[in-house]
Amino acid sequence: MFKIKFHEPVLKIEALELLKVKKGKKYLDATVGGAGHAEEVLKKGGTLLGLDCDPQALAFSRKRLVSACPPSACCWKLVKGNFARLKKIARDAGFLPVSGIIFDLGASWFQLKEPGRGFSLRSRISLDMRLDPEIPVSAFDLVNHLSQKELILILRRFGEERRASRIVREIVSSRRNKPIRTGEELAEIIASALPGRKGRIHPATRSFQALRIAVNNELENLSQALPQAVELLETEGRLVVISFHSLEDRIVKNFLRNRQAGGELKILTPKPICASPVEVKNNPGSRSAKLRAAEKTK
Ligand SMILES: C[S@@+](CC[C@H](N)C(=O)[O-])C[C@H]1O[C@@H](n2cnc3c(N)ncnc32)[C@H](O)[C@@H]1O
Repeated sequence: MFKIKFHEPVLKIEALELLKVKKGKKYLDATVGGAGHAEEVLKKGGTLLGLDCDPQALAFSRKRLVSACPPSACCWKLVKGNFARLKKIARDAGFLPVSGIIFDLGASWFQLKEPGRGFSLRSRISLDMRLDPEIPVSAFDLVNHLSQKELILILRRFGEERRASRIVREIVSSRRNKPIRTGEELAEIIASALPGRKGRIHPATRSFQALRIAVNNELENLSQALPQAVELLETEGRLVVISFHSLEDRIVKNFLRNRQAGGELKILTPKPICASPVEVKNNPGSRSAKLRAAEKTK
């Protein structure tokens, strides 16, 4: 299982430079994933608390971190949890004061590609999309049980999908015959609602993004986590956030600007940092990444 690549960390050099890791200081990786960023924190001598809501991600991370730094050295700890409860998690772990916090939002390569996780447009196994298997409602439940109005709202709000009504009409008509069970089935239904639209991006991409955000409550979790992250940071502590779509980036940008206006943070990235053409070529998943960072001033 651990031979499989879990994730290729994006903007690793830039993120670590901005996190400004100091030997022996505490760093919180709120989305530890496959521990690509976390491992670099350890290499630079930081002590790490790695958090993820996905037990599979934590298993990958554990394996990687053990070889970077033996657990007996007590330089890292992993916890399963949602970053919406960041403050409690850090306090319960006795992980204070924190000198830097990194969020690398969304899902890992493994989660998105593994057919059994049901995120993929090509999945023939499931339509799940839960990052945390304990979340009670999956994409299957939303697609098959929400009302037409509710589904349209999700596609519009979280996918910025202008053709939501047309897509949902097709979904509702199809699910009358039999439940929509897989990513592949759903992608085909959406494509048939939008005939003649063949581009580089699959017509179901926005709808899949919307469902994933809704299932995992992604925007609400982020809005709850950012103020807690600032509270946890010591003065001159650094906050680094990598986002992958405009809805997340807007939340991060507005949050940092408001806190800078209030004198609590100093923005270190007047413009978001994006992946270089070389990084995009080597890791296409980095194409939409935007990194923003700030330092706590008081
Ligand atoms: C893009 S990956 C992080 C990759 C990681 N930086 C690396 O280098 O491998 C995002 C991770 O965040 C996790 N995640 C997403 N939302 C979360 C939340 N609300 N709380 C905790 N973990 C979350 C996902 O399960 C996933 O493993």
